[in-house]
Amino acid sequence: MSLILAIETSCDETAAAVIEDGHRIRSNVVASQIELHRPYGGVYPEIASRQHVYDIVPVIEAALADSGAAWDDLTALAVTRGPGLAGSLLVGANTAKAIAWGRGLPIIGVNHLEGHLYSNWLDEGGKIVPAAITRPSPAELDAAGRAFPLLVLIVSGGHTEIILMEGHGRYRLLGATLDDAAGEAFDKVARLLGLSYPGGPAVQKAAEGGNPTAFDFPRALTNYAIQAEHRFNFSFSGLKTAVLRQVRELGNDPATGTVATLPVADLAASFQAAVVDVLVMKTADAARTHGVARICVCGGVAANKALRQAVAERLPVPASIPPFFLCTDNAAMIGTAAHYRLLSEGPSALDFDVEPDLALQVER
Ligand code: KG4
Ligand code: ZN
Repeated sequence: MSLILAIETSCDETAAAVIEDGHRIRSNVVASQIELHRPYGGVYPEIASRQHVYDIVPVIEAALADSGAAWDDLTALAVTRGPGLAGSLLVGANTAKAIAWGRGLPIIGVNHLEGHLYSNWLDEGGKIVPAAITRPSPAELDAAGRAFPLLVLIVSGGHTEIILMEGHGRYRLLGATLDDAAGEAFDKVARLLGLSYPGGPAVQKAAEGGNPTAFDFPRALTNYAIQAEHRFNFSFSGLKTAVLRQVRELGNDPATGTVATLPVADLAASFQAAVVDVLVMKTADAARTHGVARICVCGGVAANKALRQAVAERLPVPASIPPFFLCTDNAAMIGTAAHYRLLSEGPSALDFDVEPDLALQVER
């Protein structure tokens, strides 16, 4: 049996989990720092790393206690090595290395994005994924030839990418955002509308009573007749500017301090609809173009209700999307990604460094 203790500290959640055989969550503990960063309207890096130092040991101890496993039962350590905030990543990486060194266990440095992607492999993570995709070993999977290629849409605070997953650890990048990530757009628009941090959930909540067709916000890079090379790419900075322009037109100008009563619900709903539209439109197009049988959606923005509904209704092939608690940052997803990395490539060297700008290793 494989029993991996996984640690995630790339941003503002201190998280630890114990994962059995790559798919079963024995424990999953997340200490969120949201309240600490709220007064700053975003993650304050120094505060984040200091809080990780306070929380990391109790979080790991809680994850081990919840799992019912003893230190001696563990077979490997896994930790996020990037991308993320350098100071935050270091806390998790050094703690994991110390445990691995002290207990003579292998360690696997995991790409955070690969973690999000593998959230779909967890038992609780892929409710729509049939057992045939979640349970068998990589060899069985590949032999069955049914799981791959998969199409993956990663939508997080720092990334928006469409990836063709051809096998475990084998990724082909089909498209990415040219500017802001989808989550970043939610966070920026939340600020424009005077909503609280974190922006994604705040915009979603504000949009609940709003009319998604009240404002006709742009769907960028969807005119393939003139933008063929951007067929699977995204751009959200123009959308953010369009919301800003609309807010100003309605009489509210942050630059001059003029404040009008804004139709926040309609603005939020119309913005959200524009983001969801392009995400789903391009994912559906990529799925058809590449003839995949299945789609996985993951990352913090996958927690968005409007996106979840559109994924369920508007994609041409079955799609899996993890439950809310596995969409936002957690260590369970790092443990399952590590399980497959360990099988395919073996452990990392103990002297690996954190990489704040680490990209997903893609084949072109
Ligand atoms: O994956 P994640 O937890 O961290 C990164 O790896 O970036 O994603 C965080 C992002 C933030 O931008 C947050 O606003 C967004 O995910 N987010 C949402 C929702 N929940 C989180 N965006 C839209 N709707 C949500 N319900
Ligand atoms: Zn994340």
